[in-house]
Amino acid sequence: MRQGPLSMPEDLRHCAALLDALPDPALLVGQARRILMANPSANELFGAQVTGQSVMSYLRQPEATAALEKGFAVLDGAPPPATPVEARMIQAAPTRETVLRVSVAPVAASIGLPLLLITLRDISHLEQAEQQRRDFVANVSHELRSPLTVLAGFIETLKGPARNDPEATASFLDIMEREAQRMTRLVSDLLSLSRVESEERVRPRGQVSLSEVLRATLAALRPQIEEAGVVVDFADLPEAPAIPGDRDQLVQVFHNLVENALKYGGSGGRVQIALQRLDAVPGMAGPVLRVEVRDFGDGIDPIHIPRLTERFYRVDGHRSRSMGGTGLGLAIVKHIVNRHRGRFTIRSTRGEGSTFSVTLPLA
Ligand SMILES: Nc1ncnc2c1ncn2[C@@H]1O[C@H](COP(=O)(O)OP(=O)(O)O)[C@@H](O)[C@H]1O
Ligand SMILES: [Mg+2]
Repeated sequence: MRQGPLSMPEDLRHCAALLDALPDPALLVGQARRILMANPSANELFGAQVTGQSVMSYLRQPEATAALEKGFAVLDGAPPPATPVEARMIQAAPTRETVLRVSVAPVAASIGLPLLLITLRDISHLEQAEQQRRDFVANVSHELRSPLTVLAGFIETLKGPARNDPEATASFLDIMEREAQRMTRLVSDLLSLSRVESEERVRPRGQVSLSEVLRATLAALRPQIEEAGVVVDFADLPEAPAIPGDRDQLVQVFHNLVENALKYGGSGGRVQIALQRLDAVPGMAGPVLRVEVRDFGDGIDPIHIPRLTERFYRVDGHRSRSMGGTGLGLAIVKHIVNRHRGRFTIRSTRGEGSTFSVTLPLA
């Protein structure tokens, strides 16, 4: 039982039981702004010694203080506000910052004592999701704006100064075509990302041969392989059994991984692709198939690796854009692998190259 003032009325003991049942941190504050009670979550947040202290010393930020003042005004006889009194407060902790929504509510006078119930809800994840949504919209707008600016500029030029210059016209049209293709790629990657995100919980229903998927992917990439002058070595496993999967999505996965190996790791001159069967891997039940795509290029600095699967994250934005990249490929890969209940890992050593590995359950 909590240590409260000795004169705690019987009713307040019932309040204590209710307070303890609340999942969010909650404080009961009485006259003289003292904390009469704190539930275990509030003790976790503010420490064990809050009872008896002034609530003002725990809720010190201006917005929270203003909300408390409104609550105290009600205790002093002001009419209760029409809407709940709420405030946003940031609680700094050693490991992370928590954003709290503080709500201040006067307790019905029938309890016989003027009391305020203060609850604090952790809204950090809500704010974070909201921030991600804003960043995403800003990124998409930014990615679309640069090709649009180029197109608009060349349209002006073609209508004006270059009107009667067939040579300039031809070269401008080439540039305009490239920029239009860039926008098309971006929009189609955005659509595929939104499709795979919305299907992530729907199990794929097809039966897919990874060996066939890899051969088809390499055949489709033949022109890029030749252009990059890279030797691609494929250690196939033709007898590998089919896995439950979505063939088109798996083609998308390996297309992007091999294309990345050529674009960003092609300086190593070779790319190795290997399909293996493993009977057991940590963290996955039952036998699996694993595909590794390895390049011998510059490698990736460890600080970037955990972020590569974020939407629009690139190590070198300029380089990616100049190679026609959208920055969405690995985000799409991650979602497709998740949908297949698989694992996606990236290993890399600076100066030696990178290995992108996809592990998929056999059943
Ligand atoms: N094999 C690789 N070697 C080095 N960096 C890579 C490799 N694959 C991907 N990256 C880095 O990861 C970023 C994200 O890849 P991805 O999501 O496919 O986007 P994009 O290919 O459109 O740039 C790339 O811009 C690149 O910086
Ligand atoms: Mg890519």
